[in-house]
Amino acid sequence: MALVSAKDMLNKAAAGGYAVGQFNINNLEWTKAILQTAQEQNSPVILGVSEGAGKYMCGFKTVAAMVKAMVESLGITVPVALHLDHGSYEGAKACIEAGFSSIMFDGSHYPIDENIAKTTELKGICDQLGLSLEAEVGAIGGEEDGVIGSGEVADPAECKMISDLGVTMLAAGIGNIHGKYPANWKGLNFEVLSQIHDVTNGKPLVLHGGTGIPADMIKRAISLGVAKINVNTECQLAFQEATRKYIEEGKDLQGKGFDPRKLLAPGTQAIKDCVKEKMELFGSIGKA
Ligand code: 13P
Repeated sequence: MALVSAKDMLNKAAAGGYAVGQFNINNLEWTKAILQTAQEQNSPVILGVSEGAGKYMCGFKTVAAMVKAMVESLGITVPVALHLDHGSYEGAKACIEAGFSSIMFDGSHYPIDENIAKTTELKGICDQLGLSLEAEVGAIGGEEDGVIGSGEVADPAECKMISDLGVTMLAAGIGNIHGKYPANWKGLNFEVLSQIHDVTNGKPLVLHGGTGIPADMIKRAISLGVAKINVNTECQLAFQEATRKYIEEGKDLQGKGFDPRKLLAPGTQAIKDCVKEKMELFGSIGKA
């Protein structure tokens, strides 16, 4: 199946009271693990690519070619969107040219007027090409690939302005941060999420920083319009833990245990387990 825009899968999720996971990819193993899990669980899926990960994987064109070929050669039939995560204006244009099916333009660090102007221009291009577009209001806290957000809580009036531009989905800061949550984290701001939900008329909302958010908060967020949840660090930690165990047990020193196909296998399986667990929690299993 060809890559699809995230529009239909997210509108269905918002209407059906579940969320689709965006899982960030870092290399071939990551991509394969996520695609296979989505297929096994009959779940729609969004593959997220940050600008840093795109650079690491030799550019957006390489990523798009790898993902498209893998979807075909693995016989993936569930809906898959290839999505730029926290794109700059230039990055968004590069991904559109490279053949991504979904774009995030993160204009949250611009004054609202500039965020509106740039989002509007990109929306025109995405509409013409049938791509989905995610916009952001109120920076997400923490650090991701050098993009540092201070963890703002979005202004619902600004959310309405950006949502009314007709973007496919809206990311709004509600106290969520990328990476591990600190021990003194206050939790998600459901009051603001509920206000945003009220003024955006059923627009699929996006929750970034999915790593480590307790299950009850995830469920409450979904009940308040969150239809896409981004997970990155949690898969990285699962991969790291399984790989560390393999080495600590000396398995790389036994037989052909040094073969990368063996060395990376436990970590790849750990990513699959992590993705499956999240799909269960988000309610997307069987929704392809
Ligand atoms: P985590 O790394 O905290 O899971 O966040 C992922 C994310 O929001 C990607 O945009």
